[in-house]
Amino acid sequence: MMPPKPSTNVPDDPVAAAVAERLHASLVQSVAAAGGFLPFVDYMQAALYAPGLGYYVNGAHKLGHGGDFVTAPELSPLFGETLATWLAPVLRDDLGGGATLLEFGAGSGRLAGDVIATLRELRVPWQRYWIVEVSPDLRARQQAHLEATLAADEYARVAWLDHLPRAPLRAVVLANEVLDALPVELFRWREGRVWQVGVGVGADGTLTLAERPAPPTLAEPVARLQDAHGPWPEGYLSEWRPAQAAWVKGVSDCLRQGVAVIVDYGFPRSAYYAPERREGTLVGYYRQQMILDPLARPGLMDLTASVDFTGVAEAATAVGLEVLAYAGQGEFLLGAGLPQRFEARVGSGEDARQTLQAAQAVRMLTLPGEMGERFQVMALGRGCSHLPLDGIPDRRGRL
Ligand SMILES: C[S@@+](CC[C@H](N)C(=O)[O-])C[C@H]1O[C@@H](n2cnc3c(N)ncnc32)[C@H](O)[C@@H]1O
Repeated sequence: MMPPKPSTNVPDDPVAAAVAERLHASLVQSVAAAGGFLPFVDYMQAALYAPGLGYYVNGAHKLGHGGDFVTAPELSPLFGETLATWLAPVLRDDLGGGATLLEFGAGSGRLAGDVIATLRELRVPWQRYWIVEVSPDLRARQQAHLEATLAADEYARVAWLDHLPRAPLRAVVLANEVLDALPVELFRWREGRVWQVGVGVGADGTLTLAERPAPPTLAEPVARLQDAHGPWPEGYLSEWRPAQAAWVKGVSDCLRQGVAVIVDYGFPRSAYYAPERREGTLVGYYRQQMILDPLARPGLMDLTASVDFTGVAEAATAVGLEVLAYAGQGEFLLGAGLPQRFEARVGSGEDARQTLQAAQAVRMLTLPGEMGERFQVMALGRGCSHLPLDGIPDRRGRL
């Protein structure tokens, strides 16, 4: 995600402020119920997903211009068009037209709309588009967008799931900026051991960060990271995402045959846990501003941390998925057909303003200083041989 434009100083609306107050009270209770120390992973789970109160489930405006951040599908339809063009041979030749598209965390629904429109244009058949979305208000937003933009027979084939499909599918899976939204443990390396960072309540009733010796479930994986990528300096702060491997396994369990494309900001593990990255990657986004205090504005601010793509690859191979591709977003999009999609737009008689907007989006999506290098694309697959890999740099050796 990108902070889209300079911050504005608009006060929170009273409804949002009241929800945030209720979430704060509930967090204070949770800290007490946990004995005075709530592990950060539990805090993040509640701050983002506590029913009715968390950032992703309380109706606050989040995505796009005017929200808290802008994602690639919000920036331009070229993102979804390129992904659909790249995946078309898999849908047509590997999966034979009867495939499911399964999208996790579909945001405003734009990616789904752009993918479906491109498949229509390319005459690639698909059976159904399923969306797994934990946020009721984003689900409503997706429904409104797709009902307004898709043909009736296409919209009739879109459905929202409350849980992962039970029977394995022949499918293409999409997850753009979903893994970064899964809660993380926050830890510190101090005095030669791992400390779990969590949340306590100060004398004045405010939430404060606190530390305690990490339990083995956190200390052991983090000590392995330190052994492999340290020595870390005293006070080194970083994150570890316990739910990531289970998420990858869940995707694998859904996939009898197909490809899963994961796009997110992140690094290979050696870069993530490099000694120089002494403050980790956890940040908040609020009103288009990056906020470094993770306890600021619970319920009103998004919280996110980068993805350890080596961990994704390891979890995938452990459950029999092949890592088919791994590259930076910029080089990936350029090799996957973005220039051709852009040229087609320019040649289609768009006016100069639209062409300039599209050119600006291409820059944002691909330039190293924008989203081109910070975002990574990983394709995992099973039983597919038609993914067009020529032209996509192979960075799997960095994992
Ligand atoms: C940063 S937003 C990205 C939205 C969209 N993919 C985009 O790129 O614009 C994260 C999305 O993931 C969803 N999400 C978070 N955890 C999820 C999970 N476990 N399963 C499915 N969706 C999830 C959120 O509700 C939200 O829609």
